[in-house]
Amino acid sequence: MNEKWTPNSWRACPVKQVPTYDDAAALQAVEARLAGFPPLVFAGEARNLKSQLAEVSEGRAFLLQGGDCAESFVEHEADNIRDTFRVLLQMAVVLTYGAKLPVIKVGRMAGQFAKPRSADTETIDGVELPSYRGDIINGIEFTAEARVPNPERQISAYRQAASTLNLLRAFAKGGYADLTEVHRWNQGFIADSPQGARYEDMARQINEAMDFMAACGISSLTAPQIGMVDFFTSHEALLLGYEQAMTRLDSTSGEYYDTSAHMLWIGDRTRQPDGAHVEFLSGVKNPIGLKCGPTLDKDELITLLDKLNPENEAGRITLIARFGHENVEAHLPDLIRKVVAEGRKVVWSCDPMHGNTIKASNGYKTRPVDRILTEVQRFMAVHQAEGTHAGGIHFEMTGQNVTECLGGAQAISEEDLSSRYHTHCDPRLNGSQALELAFLIAEGLAGDTASSRVA
Ligand code: PEP
Ligand code: CO
Repeated sequence: MNEKWTPNSWRACPVKQVPTYDDAAALQAVEARLAGFPPLVFAGEARNLKSQLAEVSEGRAFLLQGGDCAESFVEHEADNIRDTFRVLLQMAVVLTYGAKLPVIKVGRMAGQFAKPRSADTETIDGVELPSYRGDIINGIEFTAEARVPNPERQISAYRQAASTLNLLRAFAKGGYADLTEVHRWNQGFIADSPQGARYEDMARQINEAMDFMAACGISSLTAPQIGMVDFFTSHEALLLGYEQAMTRLDSTSGEYYDTSAHMLWIGDRTRQPDGAHVEFLSGVKNPIGLKCGPTLDKDELITLLDKLNPENEAGRITLIARFGHENVEAHLPDLIRKVVAEGRKVVWSCDPMHGNTIKASNGYKTRPVDRILTEVQRFMAVHQAEGTHAGGIHFEMTGQNVTECLGGAQAISEEDLSSRYHTHCDPRLNGSQALELAFLIAEGLAGDTASSRVA
């Protein structure tokens, strides 16, 4: 335990990727208002997620985490939320069916607003302006006015997160996610795709099994888990003033929880062991993700685990590997061996998005689906070779029919990118590409489970 930790102890540490606000008094006033607002999630829910993640770390469950790279204020629509939630449900069913493991569902939703950037400024046609840092900080429009960090945006982000979360809770618990509705989740352009047809086939088999179980007296009336799902929220804990303001002392445990989301993660650019982000997250009890990119050294990883999880609590830490498809074999085995040798309990998850971003010849930032799949396959193969559990995946995706990532069964080409390229930050898988990957990953996991049963 870090004895000196307080919700604001991070302010004494070096901090990266956090903007400077012109009006310090206005910022303080916003943070004080946020601190008085209702929590978005409860400590007990975060503990529930942590215990489910502990099951993943033991190899008995799988983590599915996905959603927008950056949520935006203008795209805050019920249909967008529903469509992403629905594709996550479809993916979870595919993975559960294939891997025969419970799938923990965590959205990059209801708070994923702040973005780390590789450069502080952006230049277009000779005009240089501060970079866009996510709607919680500044505006995406390329004007000097929009790019000024405005603290009032934190209030808007909080309110949007609250209303998104409200809808997600209704979908998760109010009947929409009932397993007997498995057919109805297959909609629109996804239903018309080859993956949709494959999904339909699987849904029919599930329905037959449900009918059989109902005839045996097992239905959502007797087994509530058939009628609803647990759905959790997560985002990168980047804007620390906001995160601090949302942090509350839980009266049940006497411990601090960041109530802005169930799970928070530390980005690849802000994981310095002595930096502000690691300091802040070391003291809140939520489950924590840590992005692991090619520059992460194995000894540094242990230093980070010492700081973030000194008691080696299972479910506390999810290591999110994001090496790029060509770098997995060079980096992942060393980290796994070190973590195993040190006896650390972690969930291993794979983010196959952030190491596979390229620039198309027409200037669009994009990601080829085949590289995304290759990274996941290599991640799973390394775990199989090391005898550890490939515990999860982390996707940037949307339920919409966007054209942001190249390839997949729809064969999206460079020329197609411009037709529906809507992301506010990184390119996302569309609903059909995401479902396609879920099927391919389920096949890999089914193979793993079968071979470990034989062993
Ligand atoms: C992200 O998840 O959007 C992100 C910026 O990732 P990373 O920190 O891994 O680059
Ligand atoms: Co991103």
